[in-house]
Amino acid sequence: MYAGTRRLDAIQKAERIAPIRLDVADESTIIEAVRRIDAEAGRLDILVNNAAIYDADVEDLATDPTNRIDDVLAVNLRGAILLAKHALPLLLRNRGGRVVNVSSGSGSLTEGVDTDAPAYSISKAGLNALTSYLHGAYGSKGLLANSVCPGWVRTDMGGPRATRSVEKGAETPIWLATFAPGSPPGLFWRDRKVIPW
Ligand SMILES: NC(=O)c1ccc[n+]([C@@H]2O[C@H](COP(=O)([O-])OP(=O)(O)OC[C@H]3O[C@@H](n4cnc5c(N)ncnc54)[C@H](OP(=O)(O)O)[C@@H]3O)[C@@H](O)[C@H]2O)c1
Repeated sequence: MYAGTRRLDAIQKAERIAPIRLDVADESTIIEAVRRIDAEAGRLDILVNNAAIYDADVEDLATDPTNRIDDVLAVNLRGAILLAKHALPLLLRNRGGRVVNVSSGSGSLTEGVDTDAPAYSISKAGLNALTSYLHGAYGSKGLLANSVCPGWVRTDMGGPRATRSVEKGAETPIWLATFAPGSPPGLFWRDRKVIPW
């Protein structure tokens, strides 16, 4: 298992986890990470797009600095699109490859995109579109692509007042990552239940 990170020393040493340099805003690191995985493992079964940044302190779109909008989209949306693009040949090498896009209910079109963090919420709606695209384009080739909202989790992003532990937040993303061929793809999930896009 590879853990993509900008800071290799931040990954706790654990058996069977290999840190791999990855800045999702820098395409060259994506290409190099995929090349290394191909050379070392010759396959990629699961891609989890988890990296994100949050424009929490932004009041509204009208006052959101353009460079902040660019940064949020570069990580949360462009990064996930480019990771999928470059990883697809490996993911499709064996039937049952999985993509788990860690999204957010704040990007739900049905419930209304959250207004608190505009670029973040819009990026998550876009990430859900990536899931739908991957399912439409590659589902028939055996790819299982799903989106998941982890809920409000006590991380740096969620803050200490969040209602969920990291373990609880990771539960459904891990469940989706272990889907077997034939499991339901192309959906948006929370707590192992389908939620509206
Ligand atoms: N926490 C919540 O309540 C909540 C709710 C809904 C959805 N989510 C989603 O859950 C996922 C995980 O969020 P989290 O709560 O764990 O957030 P977090 O505590 O802010 O962690 C975000 C992670 O993304 C990494 N990252 C940021 N920019 C990157 C880049 N350019 N390249 C590579 N990695 C980068 C960060 O790495 P560094 O450590 O190097 O900065 C960090 O490990 C995100 O997709 C988030 O949108 C979270």
